[in-house]
Amino acid sequence: MEEKSIDIEYINKLYKYMKNNSSVEDFMEKFHINSNELNGILELCRLYGKNIEIIKTDNTLVFKKSLSKNTITTKPNMDYNKLIHTEICVVSDTHFGNIHQQLHLLNKVYKEAYNRGIDTVLHCGDMVDGNYLNRPEQPRQQFLHGFDEQASYVVDMYPKVKGITTKYILGSHDETHYKNGQATINNWVSRIRKDMVYLGQDSASININGIKIFMDHPGGGSSQSISYKPQKRIEILESNHKPKILLIGHYHKSYSFVYRNVRGIEVPCFCGKTQFQRKQGLSNVVGAYFLNIYSDSKGNIQYFEPEEILFNKNDMWDEAGKDKNKVKQLVIK
Ligand SMILES: [Fe+2]
Ligand SMILES: [Fe+2]
Repeated sequence: MEEKSIDIEYINKLYKYMKNNSSVEDFMEKFHINSNELNGILELCRLYGKNIEIIKTDNTLVFKKSLSKNTITTKPNMDYNKLIHTEICVVSDTHFGNIHQQLHLLNKVYKEAYNRGIDTVLHCGDMVDGNYLNRPEQPRQQFLHGFDEQASYVVDMYPKVKGITTKYILGSHDETHYKNGQATINNWVSRIRKDMVYLGQDSASININGIKIFMDHPGGGSSQSISYKPQKRIEILESNHKPKILLIGHYHKSYSFVYRNVRGIEVPCFCGKTQFQRKQGLSNVVGAYFLNIYSDSKGNIQYFEPEEILFNKNDMWDEAGKDKNKVKQLVIK
């Protein structure tokens, strides 16, 4: 199991082989799966909205499937007119200064946010590419080096759009500047850019129209599986203090799910695949989310629609420096 990538396709394939009333033992033998791994697979099946359990019949353990499914979106049981509608845009990991940055695509998303009349964009960290002293190969992957160049770039180039406030946290790459010389991007950006509001290093809890939203930039290594790490982030949340929505940056992946009654979104990035990711065999997804939320007066979500905006290879400017030379700051007055 350790070499297998546990993604939705793999789970779907296994789920097909778990026939109703078929033997659990035969299944485990066929796929060389032990009982701990089986429990994990069942847990993931449920996470992906498949209702399956194990029951005992005639002294044999068999799979039992039921047709009702949990879906990511829940239909409102109230009148739309009585609900509060909130639409926000979520972005992350812009990694400014990296030669693979995709500022022109971030501009596209901000233009779309403007056209939709959105007033809040949340950025989940790794605003800049940072400066890792233990990665001597990093400067070759950058066109902006050090704190001054990267912080100035954010001030000068981050989209400035009438009516939109960007609320941001700082992530692992941003933090390298603090570790190297106690310099923080937020200190300069938010002094100069009144449309950019700093919320915290690594994480922040915010409230929009009564809805509790937690922004998270975990740090640490990524994983081959898209669901494992975000699932773990939700597991550590205390029952009474859980947010309604958890937004996770850092992994450069795109995924939305519901777990422990929390709507989780893994927010993709605005940077093409880096040399580091290629070496590690990590996937990298470029894009953003628009979230349409209908909530009641207590901040409980009645209807949630995460709209995934993804860009592909043809949309990206992957040639070193092209983004730097061609792209202009998006300013809408
Ligand atoms: Fe990142
Ligand atoms: Fe990060």
